[in-house]
Amino acid sequence: MTALRPLIAGNWKMNGLGSSLDEARAVAAAVDAHPPGARVAICPPATLVHRLAEALGGMGVEVGGQDCRAELAGAFTGDIAAEMLADAGATLVILGHSERRAGYGESDALVAAKAGAAHRAGLEPIVCVGETLAEREAGRTLAVVTGQVRGSLPEVLAGKPFAVAYEPVWAIGTGLTPTLEQIEEVHVAIRGVLAEMFGPHGQRVPILYGGSVKPSNAADILRLRDVGGALVGGASLKAIDFLGIIGAA
Ligand code: 13P
Repeated sequence: MTALRPLIAGNWKMNGLGSSLDEARAVAAAVDAHPPGARVAICPPATLVHRLAEALGGMGVEVGGQDCRAELAGAFTGDIAAEMLADAGATLVILGHSERRAGYGESDALVAAKAGAAHRAGLEPIVCVGETLAEREAGRTLAVVTGQVRGSLPEVLAGKPFAVAYEPVWAIGTGLTPTLEQIEEVHVAIRGVLAEMFGPHGQRVPILYGGSVKPSNAADILRLRDVGGALVGGASLKAIDFLGIIGAA
């Protein structure tokens, strides 16, 4: 079965104003000038999704959201439906990021409902999983992560485009990364669950690594077994750093 192109997605988190669009334009210009081996996406804050999609229209960088609500519409002040992201020009959406699981108590079931909504809206969900430091130290990493994968992916995604992102909570924004062996061990375990859940399609679902990915470590991480891309936080905010990671794919 042919491998999919790796996906390198930037998660801007709660960073970015109109002035930041220039960084994204610089990424897109470089990607268009020298098309990389990877698919590239930028997930800005919701306020910039439409502007970024307009600015990058027709260029080789996709735009994604960072969260959505499961419902189609209604009295949910402050929330955004998957359909709204799609209407604004997004093609992907990050779901179940640990900052949302921890900060907003998002459960696997809620993340699965959101992933179903993303599919309904025609978006490709990037569903995040990952263990805390306490869970790793207790030897529970594989149990936690595989449990999250089983609980956060609805059956409706069978045969549909989606990605999983493994982001160890303790490696996010800390400069710490697991060893290459630790990353590969978790990715192989996730692949096993995806194959069980989705059959041959599960063998092809991209599994991204996220957590302190930078130009200097990207190549080593991206060549590991069952690593199908990267979800990049801090290093996606500057075009030069993000392009260094894209170039490593
Ligand atoms: P950092 O790359 O800043 O560690 O963030 C990773 C992340 O949370 C991406 O979603």
